[in-house]
Amino acid sequence: MSAQLIPSILELRHALSDVRRAGRSIGLVPTMGALHAGHGRLIERARQQTDCVVVSIFVNPIQFNQRQDYDRYPRPLAEDLAFCSAGGVDIVFAPSVEEMYPSAQLAMVEVARVTEHLCGKSRPGHFRGVTTVVLKLLNIVQPDRAYFGEKDVQQLATIRRMAIDLDVPVEIVGVPTVREEDGLALSSRNRHLSPLERRIAPALYRALQAAGQLMASGTTDPQQIKTKALATLHPFPQIRVEYFEIVDPDEMQPVERIAGPVRVAVAAWLGTTRLIDNILCRVPSGSAGPFV
Ligand code: PAJ
Repeated sequence: MSAQLIPSILELRHALSDVRRAGRSIGLVPTMGALHAGHGRLIERARQQTDCVVVSIFVNPIQFNQRQDYDRYPRPLAEDLAFCSAGGVDIVFAPSVEEMYPSAQLAMVEVARVTEHLCGKSRPGHFRGVTTVVLKLLNIVQPDRAYFGEKDVQQLATIRRMAIDLDVPVEIVGVPTVREEDGLALSSRNRHLSPLERRIAPALYRALQAAGQLMASGTTDPQQIKTKALATLHPFPQIRVEYFEIVDPDEMQPVERIAGPVRVAVAAWLGTTRLIDNILCRVPSGSAGPFV
């Protein structure tokens, strides 16, 4: 069955009211397109848990910090549609910018604290753009569940908190990161890497794992862990680290001492491409091993 392409909000609302009237549950997978197996995993989960799967494809201008990044974002709609059809998606909602933002967007959603560190520091206004478009999508689709990847863990934590604090009647489902065989997290931006950069990129995941191993062997001082993990990147001068942080999993605040579960998160530039990744870790309680 091929997925139904709907570009208009009104038409989508009509189609979904029929679905709801038939007593079927709705799952939403928000994306910016250029779909890959990471998005595929979200779609798979949505299919397992809900009756009607909606994938939104919208390159959201208000979450980009640089015009160049927005302009060069890939938009292979025909391929994405085929990907969705093959993955059993029912509806692809692919609105234009005018459809989503017919006039200046004056109401914006801001989640404080969770967006303070990590990507929030270097990308001012980014998360405001994300939460604003995601709330719009949740209001348009009114899904029972919405699916987001742990790959963008600060985004996931921010959206979770938005849904809680604003009483949005939806279950936010987090899905583990899908990786290439060499550990590189799948991302639409990987296609911008040169062959050399692509070979080097998995070093980021290895640095995260090094941090995880230090915690597993009982190191609880974040500074010590950061220094040692970053040293694993020294052989790769092409990698410019923007941040390497150890934060609590809910509010994304840097921790001073590692006691419970933490997220180790990294952002780095390889040439003109910015990559992010993270893992969940904890110090062992008793003989428990690393939780990565
Ligand atoms: P996009 O980058 O297209 O990602 C869409 C969803 O796919 C996000 O929830 C992201 O975390 C998830 N994802 C991407 N790569 C993944 C991987 N390797 N493994 C698992 N999940 C992965 O994130 C956005 O779009 C936008 O900010 C959006 C939420 C759609 C708002 O515009």
